[in-house]
Amino acid sequence: MLIDSRLTETIRSAKKIVVLTGAGISAESDVPTFRDAQTGLWASFKPEELATPEAFLRNPKMVWEWYAYRREMVDKVKPNPGHSALVELEKRVSEFLLVTQNIDNLHQQAGSRNVIELHGNIKRVKCFKEGTIVNDWNVSDEVPPRCPKCGYYLRPDVVWFGEMLPFGAMEKATESARTCDVFFSIGTSSAVYPAAYLPYDALRRRATVIEVNPDETPLTEHAHFHLQGKAGEILPELMKNINM
Ligand code: OAD
Repeated sequence: MLIDSRLTETIRSAKKIVVLTGAGISAESDVPTFRDAQTGLWASFKPEELATPEAFLRNPKMVWEWYAYRREMVDKVKPNPGHSALVELEKRVSEFLLVTQNIDNLHQQAGSRNVIELHGNIKRVKCFKEGTIVNDWNVSDEVPPRCPKCGYYLRPDVVWFGEMLPFGAMEKATESARTCDVFFSIGTSSAVYPAAYLPYDALRRRATVIEVNPDETPLTEHAHFHLQGKAGEILPELMKNINM
């Protein structure tokens, strides 16, 4: 893919870069994007019907098992060249922030350091009542397991529909988007707020907004650059050009 030299120069000279990622960057690691069809036991449910506190309270066992199944799936996949390219980008720019909507932990596994997990992390588990992270729990035959401290159910440390984002996450992400030189939106349908506000915060600050996605999204017409294609192919190519 031919990458515009103006784009390469803009990234090379940037002092502060913010990157927002969505499920698309993990698609090449074979993690289904959020809107891919559900499979297996949960094929008859939409994620929106399972990823809510009400669904959990209605059927804690089913929701816990859906996340346990997805955790097992995520344990088997690896970061792809798109994740690695972002690790390289973080190393070469003086200020860098990665804001991810993904809960698959692949950015951290690839080596990204300054990461905000807007929607939590499927690898972490917390007490439904206290919200405290619980690292190990007795794998009794009870599903979901219970908090060793208060005895209430444990749940995945992810943001469910209708829940608030982790305290301070959006504030920090917004402040960075408003003060960056270059903003990447990678592998996200730009359809879910408040994360989808971030590129517009960057645009208002006259940052260069670059979208990486095989498809168009509501952001495409506003972005300075729309690099059409897969993140796992475009980002390594971009890094190669920048390092020339
Ligand atoms: P979506 O599934 O909505 O969008 C995935 C985007 O990735 C689409 O625009 C695809 O075109 C694009 N895509 C697919 N393969 C790609 C690839 N190889 N490289 C680059 N892009 C690719 O997932 P998200 O936008 O992440 O929220 O969804 C945002 C949030 O919606 C999720 O975090 C979830 C959901 O509500 C919560 O769980 C709270």
